[in-house]
Amino acid sequence: PSLEKEFLPMYFGWFLSKRSSEILRKAGQAFLDELGSLKAFKKESKYFAYAIEDPKIKIDLTSYFVKRPPGVLHCTTKYTEFGKAAGAEEYAQQEAVKASYGKGFTLSISALFITTKTVGARVDLSEQQLLLWPGDADKILPTDNLPKGSRAHITLGCANGVEAVQTGLDLLEFVKLEKAGNKGDEVGEIGGGKLLYFDNGMWMLILSKKIDVKAIFSGYYG
Ligand code: 2AM
Repeated sequence: PSLEKEFLPMYFGWFLSKRSSEILRKAGQAFLDELGSLKAFKKESKYFAYAIEDPKIKIDLTSYFVKRPPGVLHCTTKYTEFGKAAGAEEYAQQEAVKASYGKGFTLSISALFITTKTVGARVDLSEQQLLLWPGDADKILPTDNLPKGSRAHITLGCANGVEAVQTGLDLLEFVKLEKAGNKGDEVGEIGGGKLLYFDNGMWMLILSKKIDVKAIFSGYYG
């Protein structure tokens, strides 16, 4: 009897260890806490539907990004939609994907970012890790031509009504601005690194010390 076609996961990705998830969540939390009490942020808080300039009042970004991933955090490589997504089978059949399935990796987090929709961590993929990155992920528009791995991120939270897929698209917006020569306004050093503002409620913290997280490459079946 012939077996059914291999059952593909909802998505492939790196799944952080419990400890690494906690470390990264804490770093994200500290970032939101500090940003929410920063004068420069309050001045631009209209993007977050706040109008607070009172230095004594803190903007509660934790409540704003109300949808947070339950359990361990992950960095999606390929969204395969149980095999329905374009390129799903081709991705799953790649040698690198098969050989890496269930293996341990260390991912390097270089920045944390927020937009009006999402909060996330930017992942700098190594050459070896890029072998697991799909060819079609780094685009918002079909005509976009951004470096491979530009979208690599870990979602830390989403605003009410926003789906997790948005975090990667938001990161691509930052990358597009960078590519166009917009380096952002240097707001200054805050805990953890250098804070950049890109207008329209887009903030990025370049970490002075990258955060290394331990993760297993695997599939999520829902
Ligand atoms: P993200 O947090 O990495 O953006 C399950 O929905 C997970 O798959 C989400 O956490 C989201 O991961 C990712 N995802 C959902 N839809 C996607 C899509 N169309 N393209 C890429 N990733 C997607």
